[in-house]
Amino acid sequence: MDEKGLSEEEVLGILEEARARDLKYRDGRILSSMCTAPHPVALKAHEMFFETNLGDAGLFPGTRELEREAVVMLGSLLGNPSAAGFIVSGGTEANLTALWAARNAAGKDKPEVILPDTAHFSFQKACDTLGLEAVRIPVREDRTVDTGLVEEAVGDNTAAIVGIAGSTEYGIVDDIPALSEIALENSVCLHVDAAFGGFVLPFLEELGYGSWPFDFSLPGVSSITVDPHKMGLSAIPSGGILFRDPGILERIETESPYLTEKRQHTLLGTRSGAAAAATFAVMKAMGRQGYRETVRHCMELTLKLYRGMEAMGIEVFYPTTNILVFDHRERDRIAGELSRRGWVVSRTRQGEVRLVIMPHVGKEDVERFLDDLEGVL
Ligand SMILES: Cc1ncc(COP(=O)(O)O)c(C=O)c1O
Repeated sequence: MDEKGLSEEEVLGILEEARARDLKYRDGRILSSMCTAPHPVALKAHEMFFETNLGDAGLFPGTRELEREAVVMLGSLLGNPSAAGFIVSGGTEANLTALWAARNAAGKDKPEVILPDTAHFSFQKACDTLGLEAVRIPVREDRTVDTGLVEEAVGDNTAAIVGIAGSTEYGIVDDIPALSEIALENSVCLHVDAAFGGFVLPFLEELGYGSWPFDFSLPGVSSITVDPHKMGLSAIPSGGILFRDPGILERIETESPYLTEKRQHTLLGTRSGAAAAATFAVMKAMGRQGYRETVRHCMELTLKLYRGMEAMGIEVFYPTTNILVFDHRERDRIAGELSRRGWVVSRTRQGEVRLVIMPHVGKEDVERFLDDLEGVL
């Protein structure tokens, strides 16, 4: 740090220069990200609430109420308006919080968590920090976790089972009803990671794209991660962690004697009230109808890409959600050429090319992408 501060104009100049080097969602070239351009009301909420701290919520009762209402809205989206929970920093913190609570509630000496092979890497961090043994379960041909193997893996040390509703790489949904049965029969927690799918799957059925039950309407589901900063269109950071049983929060209670509220149930101490306000604001502004139309937009473009690629003879996996994965014997060359033409695509662990069609992608972007792909081929 320099001894003397710069003028605001000078500082803003530096910021502008840095920002100019960033990619922008609105350019429609980012086909690799689960985040997107946030709804404008989220920016306004961040400006209004930027100094609020939900780690000391007694100072900010208005903000705390917005968080509660955001949690109720998330709960009703996910089949249980009386679920308890918080707006956290994202899917990683939400998954970590869920396993923290499940581990403490289970009280096992050598706690294990049963994880689909497709689980997001945040679970690896959670297992490492919480001292949980990860029991990895292979997926079936359709890339959903093999529930027969999950059943066999449940044992005396199982603290939790994890199911994925909208996997990071393929956007597919595990057989959560079967996992729910297994969890109930064995009296273990079932955590559903719907970080991506939470704002997609509830609308797919209404739009006629099929039904993938995954939420609290299944009696074995104990907790759900849902990320407003992905398909929820809120600003980063915003994750949601919801628990069916509010009593489980006692298992992660920490005393905070010198603050306005004497107990906390989140990993973070000081935490963003702006994230909660923005998430509340976006859900109010969008309503179910707004999200349904957003999902419709993304699914129509995803299927347009699917059909376009199929017509080119590309081996492309039929999408469950707005994630499209294709394979080709020349996939490295294709991915490289697409990148040279300005497209940002990602790759699965298997090396297939992965596209995430988020709300910032438009019809013209998809048409240009298909043209470029044909050119590359
Ligand atoms: C299914 C799933 N869970 C969890 C996460 C982690 O979320 P975050 O990056 O917000 O911490 C992701 C991120 O892509 C995800 O796809």
